[in-house]
Amino acid sequence: MSKQQEIKFAYWVPNVSGGFVVSTIEQRTDWSYDYNVRLAQAAEKNGFEYALTQIRFTAGYGAEYQHESVSFSHALLAKTTHLKVIAAILPGPWKPVLAAKQLATIDYLTQGRIAINVVSGWFRGEFDAIGEPWPEHDQRYVRSEEFIRCLKGIWSTDQFSFDGKYYQFKQYTLKPKPLQQPHIEVFQGGSSRAARDMAARVSDWYFTNGNSVAEIKKQVDDIREKAQLNQHQVKIGVNAFIIARDTALEAQAVLQDIIDHANIPAVHAFGEATREAGAASKEGEGNWAKSSFEDLVQYNDGFKTNLIGTPQQIAERIIELKQVGVDLILSGFLHCIEEVEYFGEKVLPLVRALENAQAQSSAISEKLA
Ligand SMILES: Cc1cc2nc3c(=O)[nH]c(=O)nc-3n(C[C@H](O)[C@H](O)[C@H](O)COP(=O)(O)O)c2cc1C
Repeated sequence: MSKQQEIKFAYWVPNVSGGFVVSTIEQRTDWSYDYNVRLAQAAEKNGFEYALTQIRFTAGYGAEYQHESVSFSHALLAKTTHLKVIAAILPGPWKPVLAAKQLATIDYLTQGRIAINVVSGWFRGEFDAIGEPWPEHDQRYVRSEEFIRCLKGIWSTDQFSFDGKYYQFKQYTLKPKPLQQPHIEVFQGGSSRAARDMAARVSDWYFTNGNSVAEIKKQVDDIREKAQLNQHQVKIGVNAFIIARDTALEAQAVLQDIIDHANIPAVHAFGEATREAGAASKEGEGNWAKSSFEDLVQYNDGFKTNLIGTPQQIAERIIELKQVGVDLILSGFLHCIEEVEYFGEKVLPLVRALENAQAQSSAISEKLA
């Protein structure tokens, strides 16, 4: 099986304090640079192709300290050799011209290993605090789509012109263009109607919160059908909080412990803030619109994906996700470094073995047909 056909793995970079669960349980995960360098090096050694940083300017629900995403991504790239780091960027605080120039430079400095995650904003308190206007839900996606069109235009064409609602360009030529051609890879986060439609038109990758295989399949089918009509190709990444342990009982006990020690006021505060996300869209769907208290203990509904159990159980569930069209698993862990290593040693070889077995059996069926 070719590398291209393999499902890919990314991990969440803890550039924000508090780990990845809103719980008082011990998390041997740290937001310092030193810890993050060791984690990035462990991840690239253990089969992770991508790392995703987060952008936060303020947070009242546990993620109290936050390193800025673009500079942090660059610093991780400087200490690694083949990992790609995806820098989260919020239209509003960033203008496309600055993002395009900043990322093109980093692309040069890192031999083409930077990517971008365009996030559209769900945390109104943050925008109010930094004096940024707060467009209503679907308008935020109109702006993000223009942002992505501008980035791709600036990165790939000379004399780029654009006349949008939010951004205008007149014959702008960026020099040098990024090393990655035709452009730096563009990811996006969100799962409302507006987010999916944007993915089906302009993004290279669609990131969504954790969910069951059946619910993820609905999103994949919906986006791929629309993308086809737009003659656009988009890959899919799904969030999962992975708890891999030698026995299923141990893994379930860890999950229970995390939930039993949930930081209740912080989870409620986070839940309140998310009402401006999918729940505020016209259709009232999207990220966190249907999340329970337990779901919200992991910031991006990562328990719902159910990659919790033995290496074999997790590998089989990853293959189920691949079968419904998922291209990448975005993973979060309780104790990042040690669990990235455990994943690389125990889970990943099983995933690759299952993928190979499947490829062989489809080749045999094709021959017989
Ligand atoms: C994988 C992933 C990563 C995200 N990273 C960030 C981030 O770093 N900062 C941020 O403000 N929002 C982030 N978001 C939030 C989204 O951009 C979006 O605002 C949110 O999911 C609500 O989307 P919806 O209303 O379309 O469902 C992320 C979302 C996902 C799925």
